[in-house]
Amino acid sequence: MPSDFTRASTTDEIATVCRIETPKNCGLVIFGASGDLTRRKLVPAIYRLYRQRLLPKGFFLLGVSRTTMDSERFRDLVHEELPADCDEGCWLQFARLIHYRSIDYGDAGSYRANLSGILPALEKEAGTEGNRIFYLATPPAVYESVISSLHAAGLAGNDQGSRTRIVIEKPFGSDLESARQLNRLLLGAFREEQIYRIDHYLAKETVQNILMFRFANSLFEPLWNRRYIDHVQITAAETIGIEQRAGYYEGAGVVRDMFQNHMFQLLTLTAMEPPSLFSASRVRDEKAKVLQSIRPFRLDRLDGQIVTGQYGPGVVSGNTVRGYREETGVAPHSAVPTYAAMKVWIDNWRWQGVPFYLRSGKRLGRQGTEIAVCFRPVPHMMFAQSFGGGISPNALILRVQPDEGISLEMQAKNPGSRMCLMPVTMNFSYPREVTLSAYERVLLDCMEGDQMLFVRDDGVDLSWEILTPVINAMETGGGGAVQIYQAGSAGPSAADSLLENDGKKWRSL
Ligand SMILES: NC(=O)c1ccc[n+]([C@@H]2O[C@H](COP(=O)([O-])OP(=O)(O)OC[C@H]3O[C@@H](n4cnc5c(N)ncnc54)[C@H](OP(=O)(O)O)[C@@H]3O)[C@@H](O)[C@H]2O)c1
Repeated sequence: MPSDFTRASTTDEIATVCRIETPKNCGLVIFGASGDLTRRKLVPAIYRLYRQRLLPKGFFLLGVSRTTMDSERFRDLVHEELPADCDEGCWLQFARLIHYRSIDYGDAGSYRANLSGILPALEKEAGTEGNRIFYLATPPAVYESVISSLHAAGLAGNDQGSRTRIVIEKPFGSDLESARQLNRLLLGAFREEQIYRIDHYLAKETVQNILMFRFANSLFEPLWNRRYIDHVQITAAETIGIEQRAGYYEGAGVVRDMFQNHMFQLLTLTAMEPPSLFSASRVRDEKAKVLQSIRPFRLDRLDGQIVTGQYGPGVVSGNTVRGYREETGVAPHSAVPTYAAMKVWIDNWRWQGVPFYLRSGKRLGRQGTEIAVCFRPVPHMMFAQSFGGGISPNALILRVQPDEGISLEMQAKNPGSRMCLMPVTMNFSYPREVTLSAYERVLLDCMEGDQMLFVRDDGVDLSWEILTPVINAMETGGGGAVQIYQAGSAGPSAADSLLENDGKKWRSL
């Protein structure tokens, strides 16, 4: 019998407390504009912001890539990706803000010829006063050329007071050394305050709410420690396979793709200490301290800490699907993991002895990302004699996607004459219509200059520092062979042992 939290809404009774910022006028320059991300995610997100009047008054979008086309053709391309019911009048107004230039990414002269002229003209027309965001929506192999050329062409604008910003898509490096090299390159051209390393998971409503929920309520924080929490489970389960991304995925695998960024970010937000101020630098300081406290994995005993798997053929949502090795572009004997589960220890006062279990995989039976904070059982179960065992301890579930919200699982008396306990769930869901999509959120934050949801250089460095030796050991046979799991299942059975050895169980997918 689920009951509901009442949402304090924008109604008169309870006012929502909001941060009110209007983004400053700015121009957005997207590199790799002919690509998939720009068409499917970025431009639709910008269009929705425009429709909701959330864009600054002075704004323009300049798409840049190698493909030769004029602005009209580019507008047509991005228009095709907008929903069929898109308001044509609104689109026509929005389309006037969109422009395109082709460029050679690695040639600073091409930037001078193709950007240095058009940018000031567009800025004058839109009144953006030189505020620019460069968005790198290219494959990572191109980042270096774009960053170096922007710098060489004098477009990085890293003097104090400049509002030039640069957004870098994930993946940020493929190991510690490549991430450090990219950071060195970036910091040679831009200042850290100008750099926005995207992890769009962080822009999900529930992820941001972890901080608000933990630190704006007095109810949970006193319980948020080793004394009351038994363990934490963080799950990011996907039903999709690798789609058309074999080229990337064969070189990455699930640990690079999901753990170094999303999973570790969710972990840090769950485990961090309250910052003294709700500011990007203080929050990121606390997140870095969590990463510094993660116990290094024992590389000679990886099998007790990490289980990896790869999906075989199976049935997902009623459809028969191929195994990973049969996907186009995947090597027939590929050992690249599409699933991983790991046990992480945080060596500090708050979390000593509390395991954090992380799992993420593709082609699983259910889609969903959640953080489950599993509390200890009550110290003495006085109902045990009357009702027997099987009474589950409390759990607080932060649902990141889908159906973003929070649930609290408790025990209550079953109504009626008989004395029975039953599990009940109090549930809070975000109404869909008030949430911004992850890309709307990150774009808006970048325009506002709010780096809270972006990863700082030390955050990237620390997470690679932990995982690079693990990935290297796994790739040379440490931790045992990758386990094949059936598509549509909950992952390899060996992942269950990771918890069963500790007397615990995964929550069902
Ligand atoms: N697509 C997504 O849903 C998604 C989600 C999360 C993160 N990302 C990240 O976002 C970035 C862009 O993704 P995407 O899917 O849009 O990539 P994409 O379509 O493969 O590439 C974007 C554009 O970059 C240029 N390009 C591609 N390969 C190149 C190469 N080898 N050398 C030089 N230019 C090249 C192409 O434009 P021109 O040939 O016209 O220059 C292409 O249209 C990637 O870093 C990706 O990891 C993407």
